[in-house]
Amino acid sequence: ETPKLIDPFHRPVTYLRLSVTDRCDFRCTYCMAENMTFLPKKDLLTLEELDRLCSAFIGLGVRKLRITGGEPLVRKGIMGFFDAMGRHLQTGDLDELTLTTNGSQLHRFADDLYAAGVRRINISLDTLDEDKFAKITRWGRLPQVLRGIDAAQNAGLRVKINAVALKGFNDDEVFALADWCAQKDMDLTFIEVMPMGDMGTENRLDQYWPLTQLRAHLETRLTLTDLDENTGGPARYVRIAETGQKIGFITPMSHNFCESCNRVRMSCTGQLYTCLGHDGMSDLREPLRASESDAVLIDAIHAAIGRKPKGHDFDYSRQEIRGQTIRHMNHTGG
Ligand code: GTP
Ligand code: 5AD
Ligand code: SF4
Repeated sequence: ETPKLIDPFHRPVTYLRLSVTDRCDFRCTYCMAENMTFLPKKDLLTLEELDRLCSAFIGLGVRKLRITGGEPLVRKGIMGFFDAMGRHLQTGDLDELTLTTNGSQLHRFADDLYAAGVRRINISLDTLDEDKFAKITRWGRLPQVLRGIDAAQNAGLRVKINAVALKGFNDDEVFALADWCAQKDMDLTFIEVMPMGDMGTENRLDQYWPLTQLRAHLETRLTLTDLDENTGGPARYVRIAETGQKIGFITPMSHNFCESCNRVRMSCTGQLYTCLGHDGMSDLREPLRASESDAVLIDAIHAAIGRKPKGHDFDYSRQEIRGQTIRHMNHTGG
């Protein structure tokens, strides 16, 4: 079947990332300011409205749905929403239902996620050191996340760890992270830090560690072979000969992957962002609420996809780099 959503650069849109809340129980320094003002609950789309929106996208050819946040598992009633989306898996209209989570609530929800049809999840974890973990998340507790990871694996979920590579923070832990993931049979993906949000006194340029360098560092001890496979996400993968494990690299800064972009992002207020690196968005809440029928909504979705930009223009080569995108990462979930 031919995909129904095609952007102006002939890219089919088949992957929707939905942020179900802007709230999070952590405050990772590269993601949020310490004292964030969160949206009032009345501004959030209801779970029924999110269901209608996602179902419309699935009707338009979206095959992969990733639930993000903030932290998606802190939204009240979210398991009912996963169950509703899981029905699209049963009818064959959706290939994958998944989420990106900080892991803090997984001990409560892992079994229910599996029951809803989730098979593979991505968990953000930048360090295995308790003190450093508390520092980067501002107050998160590592043991709670480790417990969540165990619960996910016990529930039968395949786990991928996402680590943002931060110079001067976790550059000394690359082998430790890789070994730990290999031992637990988890994939690992490193991500280049992106300049998003108002960063206060932090300067991303100081923290930016190009993954070409991280890769070279790995190659001082390990043998890496490039893999061809593609999960539909932006990571490029290698196989480590010594352990057999898979490691991914997400390189928005040093090697952008915009030409193969297949995704759009929806905020919990119904704004559709067609690029992570642009503040431009299209409101879908009004067309959603305008009518019981989906015709108006579908027109609005087509119009929004028609405005998808060619790519982001994050750039660390300019001096004095600050947040080049005003919104914080938690608004659209990465
Ligand atoms: P897989 O399905 O496992 O491939 O996951 P994924 O990489 O699609 O999703 P995940 O939430 O794990 O993404 C990891 C991070 O990659 C995101 O949080 C972002 O930081 C970054 N990322 C994902 N998509 C894009 C994109 O389109 N542009 C940019 N610049 N960064 C992205
Ligand atoms: N740059 C790169 N990745 C980020 N994430 C959050 N903020 C940033 C940033 N500024 C990542 C998290 C998580 C995912 C949701 O987004 O580490 O894996
Ligand atoms: Fe929360 Fe994830 Fe942002 Fe950290 S990166 S503050 S865990 S949403």
